[in-house]
Amino acid sequence: MTESTATLQTQAAAGLEGVVVAESSISYVDGQAGRLVYRGYAVEDLAERSTFEETSKLLLDGDLPARGDLEAFRRRLVAERALDPRALDAVRGFPADADPMAALRTGVSALGMVDPDRGDDGPEATRRKAIRLIAGLPTLVAALDHARRGEDAVAPREDLGHAANFLYMLRGEEPDPEDARVMDVCLILHAEHGMNASTFSARVTAATLSDIHSAIVSAVGTLKGPLHGGANQEVMNVRRKLAAGQKVMGFGHRVYKTMDPRAPILRRFSSDLGERAGDTRWYRMSEQILEAMRSDKAIDPNVDFFSASTYQALGIPLDLFTPIFAIARVSGWVTHVEAQRAHNRLIRPRAKYVGKRDLRYVPLDERG
Ligand code: SDX
Repeated sequence: MTESTATLQTQAAAGLEGVVVAESSISYVDGQAGRLVYRGYAVEDLAERSTFEETSKLLLDGDLPARGDLEAFRRRLVAERALDPRALDAVRGFPADADPMAALRTGVSALGMVDPDRGDDGPEATRRKAIRLIAGLPTLVAALDHARRGEDAVAPREDLGHAANFLYMLRGEEPDPEDARVMDVCLILHAEHGMNASTFSARVTAATLSDIHSAIVSAVGTLKGPLHGGANQEVMNVRRKLAAGQKVMGFGHRVYKTMDPRAPILRRFSSDLGERAGDTRWYRMSEQILEAMRSDKAIDPNVDFFSASTYQALGIPLDLFTPIFAIARVSGWVTHVEAQRAHNRLIRPRAKYVGKRDLRYVPLDERG
C-alpha cells in the first residue's frame, strides 16, 4: 500500500491543536492576550451595552443593526418563541430522569421534524430555521424542565425580552430586571467562540449539506461533554477533584493561556448576586478554588467557572447550566452553519495510518 505523502501532513495534530481549519470573520479568540471579539466588537463592550438579540443579529449579519432592523429581528424572534405542539408532545414523552442535554438534543431533532421549512435547505429557508432555533431553544429548555416535574410548560410572553422571557418560562413568574439583565449578559458571553468543539461539529455536519437541525443536534451532543460545555455543571464538584489531584472543571483552555475575558464579568455577577441574595458561600468557595488553582497549577478560570456560581445564585437547577450554554451558543452555531454553506467544501481530514500492512488472510482452521 503506497501513497504519496507529499500532500499529507506527516504528523497528526492531537485534538487538531493549532490547526487552522477555516477563515472566519465571525469572532476572534486571542489566546495570548485574553481577548474575544465578535465581528470586530470586544465582548466586554457588547456585554456592557448590547442585548442578546442585538448580538445575535450582529453575529448573523456582520454589522450592528439599525434600529428598524433590530426591532424587526426582535419581532421575528418573539413570533417564533412558541413551539409546535407536536414538539411539546415529544418533550412530554421524555423520561423524567433524562439528562437535560440529552433531552435538548432530542428536542432539537423533534423541532427539525416539524419545522415549516423542513426539506428545504436553501439559504433563505436555512435562515428562517436559524431564527426559529434561536427563538425556540429557550422555550424548549424551559418546557423540558417543567415536563420532567410533571408540570405544564409556561407559554412564552410577547412583552418580555429574550432573556427575561426565558427566566419567566423557567420560573413561572416575571424575573426582576437585575436577574433578567444578568441572564442577558450571560447569553451574550456564551453566544460565540470561534472554532470550539461544538461549533466545529456543527460545521462538519453542515458541510455535508445535511439540514441545520442535524448540525445543531451534532453541536448539542458535543457541548454536552464535560471537557466542553458540560464543565459548568461539573464546577460544583470541584473540591473533591482538587483534593484528588484530578482536572478541575472550569479551569484551563485550549486557546486562552491567560484569563478567559468572559470570566471577570461573570466573577462580578457571581459576587453581586451572592451579596444581593445574602449568600456568598458559592462565590467565596469559587475564590478559594481560583486561588488554589492559581498557586498549585498556575491555571486560570475559563467561562464555565464563574458562570456556575452565577447560575446557582439565579436559582437555576444545576443540570440546566449546560442547556443554558446551548441556548446562547445556538446563535454562534447557526452563524457558522451559514458561513460554512456560503463557501462550502466537504470537511474530510485524513488519518496517518500506523497499523499493520500487507498481511496474508489465514483461513479459520489454520488460526491458533
Ligand atoms: C469551554 O474551545 C472553546 O472555545 C471552548 C469554550 C467555548 O466558549 O466554546 O471556551 C467553552 O469548553 C471552556 C472549557 C471548559 N472545560 C473545562 O473547564 C474542563 C477542564 N479543562 C481541561 O480539561 C482543559 O483545560 C481543556 C480540555 C479545556 C483544554 O485542554 P488541552 O488544551 O487539551 O490541554 P491539556 O488537557 O493537555 O492540559 C495542558 C496541561 C496539562 O498538564 P500536564 O498533564 O501536561 O502536566 O494543563 C493541565 C493538564 O493537566 N490542565 C489542568 C486543567 N486544564 C489543563 N489541570 C488541572 N485542571 C484543569 N482544568
